[in-house]
Amino acid sequence: MADSDTYLRQPWRTVHGIPMVNAFSHNWERIDTFQSRPEDIVVVTYPKSGTTWVSEIMDMVLKGGDPEKCKQDHIVNRVPMMEFAAPGKLLAGTEQLEAMQSPRIIKTHIPAHILPKSFWENHCKMVYVGRNAKDVAVSYYHFDLMNKFHPHPGTWAEYLEEFMAGRVAYGSWYDHVKGYWERRRDHPILYLFYEDLKEDLRREVAKVAQFLGQKLSDAALDTITRHTSFEAMRDNPATNYTNIPSDLMDQSVSPFMRKGTTGDWKNHFTVAQNEHFEQDYAQKMSGTDLCFRTQI
Ligand code: A3P
Repeated sequence: MADSDTYLRQPWRTVHGIPMVNAFSHNWERIDTFQSRPEDIVVVTYPKSGTTWVSEIMDMVLKGGDPEKCKQDHIVNRVPMMEFAAPGKLLAGTEQLEAMQSPRIIKTHIPAHILPKSFWENHCKMVYVGRNAKDVAVSYYHFDLMNKFHPHPGTWAEYLEEFMAGRVAYGSWYDHVKGYWERRRDHPILYLFYEDLKEDLRREVAKVAQFLGQKLSDAALDTITRHTSFEAMRDNPATNYTNIPSDLMDQSVSPFMRKGTTGDWKNHFTVAQNEHFEQDYAQKMSGTDLCFRTQI
């Protein structure tokens, strides 16, 4: 399989019971048998939850808050996505990672129960970012409109049903956020929330630095905070994905750095959709103490 026509806008393919991006799903053994290193740091999220944002923060922290060092390469090279594959087009995530020196920051969206065992065995540090489901659904819908690796999402109303049923890449948002929430009890996981980052970015940057064992000056924390604002990342070619060819991601349809706000769901959910969503949400999230804010 070397021709992108065979995997762009193609239906999901199931791996271990989870709907997966067609292009990524082939030869999944490379993921199951992936060898982590104890010093690896994982940034793991359900898609559209602030992965790029926190990846940039983590890379900045490891580089002592030096923006020039972080501008030297695109985020997809500095923080490779483990399961990424675009045969015939771009290097696979696993190949990128094999060639990388430690400490590596590894991005993934894989749910906890099917994450390669090696990460758990090596006690690798993980930073998880959760974002409220309504804003994720809206962001994911716009992403599917522009991202040719995914099937076309149809109308917003159709898409919302698919999202709620977990028939989207990486499966159920509800299971994903709960899976890592439970794992944090016996594994070094820093569980962050997109809404907290929006509320007080500097406070959250300091949390990340502490978790990664990096003592940074106040000035360095200030620099990271400035460098990772929505506007700075939107205008930075090393973080805004404009390096990805438009036949793969068409930013004229919807930019990768789209709005970067909390509460955009209010512009998309009808009153009826909101009621239906909340009823379903209460059922799926019953029995967990994990809470999200849908506005700040
Ligand atoms: P929106 O589509 O709501 O704008 P991911 O990196 O996991 O794919 O998440 C993408 C979402 O995070 C997009 O949300 C994007 O705009 C938002 N985002 C990226 N960088 C951000 C930043 N520095 N501040 C706020 N939001 C950011």
